[in-house]
Amino acid sequence: MQNFDYYNPTKIVFGKDTIKRLDNLVPRDARLLILYGGSSAEKNGTLDEVRCALANRTIHEFGGIEPNPTYETLIKAVEWVRSNEVDFLLAVGGGSVIDGTKFVAAAVHFDGDPWCILEERGRNIRSALPFGVVLTLPATGSEMNNVAVITNKAKQAKRDLINSSVFPRFSITDPTKTYTLPLRQVANGVADAFAHIMEQYLTYPAKGMLQDRFAEGVLQTLIEIGSQAINSPDNYDIRANLMWAATSALNGLIGAGMPQDWASHMIGHELTALYGIDHARTLAIILPANLQIRRESKRGKLLQYGERVWGITSGNEEQRIDQAIAHTRSFFENLGLQTHLSDYNLGVDDIECLIKQLEAHGMTQLGENSDVTLDISRQILHASL
Ligand code: NZQ
Ligand code: ZN
Repeated sequence: MQNFDYYNPTKIVFGKDTIKRLDNLVPRDARLLILYGGSSAEKNGTLDEVRCALANRTIHEFGGIEPNPTYETLIKAVEWVRSNEVDFLLAVGGGSVIDGTKFVAAAVHFDGDPWCILEERGRNIRSALPFGVVLTLPATGSEMNNVAVITNKAKQAKRDLINSSVFPRFSITDPTKTYTLPLRQVANGVADAFAHIMEQYLTYPAKGMLQDRFAEGVLQTLIEIGSQAINSPDNYDIRANLMWAATSALNGLIGAGMPQDWASHMIGHELTALYGIDHARTLAIILPANLQIRRESKRGKLLQYGERVWGITSGNEEQRIDQAIAHTRSFFENLGLQTHLSDYNLGVDDIECLIKQLEAHGMTQLGENSDVTLDISRQILHASL
């Protein structure tokens, strides 16, 4: 196991009827800005509940943060916060609104061009405004981590930032708030959480016995509840388990002291930036091909994953690895996510565009061994056709 620091200051307030707790969670004298996405939080009453819980305060609102939040939109929020001396932010929404809020929180105090924050992947953030979260979509884990992913439309770039000053102060995670989700978003959430675990687990054996068992437990939970979350939208216990599994998949615990891959995510971000494919859907395309092309360096973990997560014990090693990858692909397909570039009408010519973008963004040494060169990414993309 590698040395690690584990730090996670986010308070999770989990369960039914928890939005009213905002009154105690947000400082009394806060000059507050609520950030949200399109119309969902207004339509399903979540925003009204939030307004009601904070009725004794002066509240400002900033709506319109889009899925795959854009720099172009967020910079308007930064200016608004600066000119109105807001000192506390509240994100109401899914990963996009939370990530957007993290960027705003960091950019408000930043001297110079705020896009530099993304170019430096957040290393240059010195401080950020405090913020809280009301989560409406279980998927990204953003409600309990220090990561944000922002898209620059003009540059066709989707970049991430990581910094300990952008952990939420608190996150309210009420499973009933997910009941109005379109089933496509539920499927995306299950797939994204699954892929987050795979990025931290499916590398090489690193003697993180507890981390492996945590990871396998969350993977098995997602396999158990994935289709039910889609087929029984108002089953509280299923949605509660999905919500906590998605948070646990990317709050730092399962990955502490472990080698991590993230190549599928980085290649996937280029697919979203160029072609607008939903984040989780890019992972369903890239992850099975990533495992296939890198099966030699991932051999030990692929066998362990096959046996412990899918119960694959028969056949020789090659056959067991084939089965493990096939199960992964079927898992995504059973959720309704397609797993080939051709399903999105993308072909060989598009692969070269994607490779150029990876090169332009410095994504030339990806993966747990930094050995995913542009040529290996190209092979992964060809295997995704
Ligand atoms: O915009 P509104 O109208 O609110 O609708 C949203 C949006 O269209 C809708 N929605 C959310 N909650 C709802 C709801 N509709 C009905 N009822 C509800 N309760 O769902 C749509 C998608 O929302 P979005 O926030 O974009 O989805 P998600 O949570 O999957 O976030 C995706 C973003 O997170 C990034 C992705 O790259 C992408 O930009 N990620 C963030 C990570 C992190 N911070 O750690 C890690 C991930 O790997 C990921 O990269
Ligand atoms: Zn993801």
